[in-house]
Amino acid sequence: MPEASRYTHKKDDGICSSVCGEPTSKAVMAMSRLKCALRGFDIRALLALFIGVPLVMLIIYKHGQKVTYFLRPIWESPPEPFKIIPHYYNENVTMENLCKLHGWKVRETPRRVFDAVLFSNELDILELRWNELSPYVSEFVLLESNSTFTGVIKPLFFKENRHRFRFAESRLTYGTYGGRFMKGENPFVEESYQRVALDQLLRIARIEDDDILIMSDVDEIPSGHTINLLRWCDDTPKIVHLQLRNYLYSFEFFLDDKSWRASIHRYVSGKTRYAHFRQTDVLLADSGWHCSFCFRHISDFVFKMQAYSHVDRIRFKYFLNHERIQDVICRGADLFDMLPEEHTFQEIIAKLGPIPSTFSAVHLPSYLLQNFDRYRYLLPGNCRRESG
Ligand SMILES: *[C@@H]1O[C@H](CO)[C@@H](O)[C@H](O)[C@H]1NC(C)=O
Ligand SMILES: *[C@@H]1O[C@H](CO)[C@@H](O)[C@H](O)[C@H]1NC(C)=O
Repeated sequence: MPEASRYTHKKDDGICSSVCGEPTSKAVMAMSRLKCALRGFDIRALLALFIGVPLVMLIIYKHGQKVTYFLRPIWESPPEPFKIIPHYYNENVTMENLCKLHGWKVRETPRRVFDAVLFSNELDILELRWNELSPYVSEFVLLESNSTFTGVIKPLFFKENRHRFRFAESRLTYGTYGGRFMKGENPFVEESYQRVALDQLLRIARIEDDDILIMSDVDEIPSGHTINLLRWCDDTPKIVHLQLRNYLYSFEFFLDDKSWRASIHRYVSGKTRYAHFRQTDVLLADSGWHCSFCFRHISDFVFKMQAYSHVDRIRFKYFLNHERIQDVICRGADLFDMLPEEHTFQEIIAKLGPIPSTFSAVHLPSYLLQNFDRYRYLLPGNCRRESG
């Protein structure tokens, strides 16, 4: 294109100078000079007006979010770094030694463990989670609502599929919460109402002081041995965040190990509140998996994209197109066509583009590998989803 436009410019100059070169009266010369000037101006100005301006506006319209995200390191400084606790584990090491390795003492009996979640529609991931944690959990606590955080009515998916979780039935405290269905409200408000309801459900489940409480989204799965360590050792931190391995769509796309929102609390009545933000500076390394958007059906992706607290990220209707979503999943690209959410230019640039595939399926939840036939879509090399 630059070649072509340079050519038209040259040709244009040529025509102009040949016309303008002819000696005539002063008035005519002035007129034709003006004409020539206008003619030269015309083409460039018209090009700019009718192609350039709409093009720039289209780019800003489509990628405005990218521009602000790219500039994020300027307007937002990174959070204080965590104090990371090294995490020691091998299945053949005694609990006494594991506790000692962390500078803790082993207890005579383990603490009770409560796993509390706000459930939306992640049935498969919930099954992986509860099976991973089952040997260590005293009480499963699950709250679901007939409203998404964005105020859209939803079925009680857990209630309809409760038969899949018979193994947990005797240890289950289940509660429902009636949505408030406030249109146009910030989704974080509905979310916080549901978290308060979960606090009440925990009391109904008879949680007591010093019991272990896991606060995490369903798709933030602590590894079983991590929970076992924290229930068997004394002197563990009163609150500790878990560093989880971040995966997207399946265990094929390993993004980074920066997931930190999940936290483990030694319960204090009247003080402990169910939350999903940063509550302390300590982070236990390598403590499990965070599998975002790890769904079986394309329709589950569409549901989640609309139910999600960041629903404003659906800037265009075609983002919800099924073929597009399937293509994005197989490429390890971003569903919302956004830039990586990072705080330094170096990290943004390092993470630009799709996530490369990983070929390691070592140290994944055991229930997943034991039941690989049912969960193939979560394993490397199986990105095609069931439609419907
Ligand atoms: C685990 O420990 C047992 C007993 O100490 C030992 O016999 C066995 O070889 C160990 N296994 C591995 C895989 O290290
Ligand atoms: C949501 O659930 C609440 C409590 O069960 C119920 O009163 C309400 O009618 C439900 N809302 C809708 C729209 O179904």
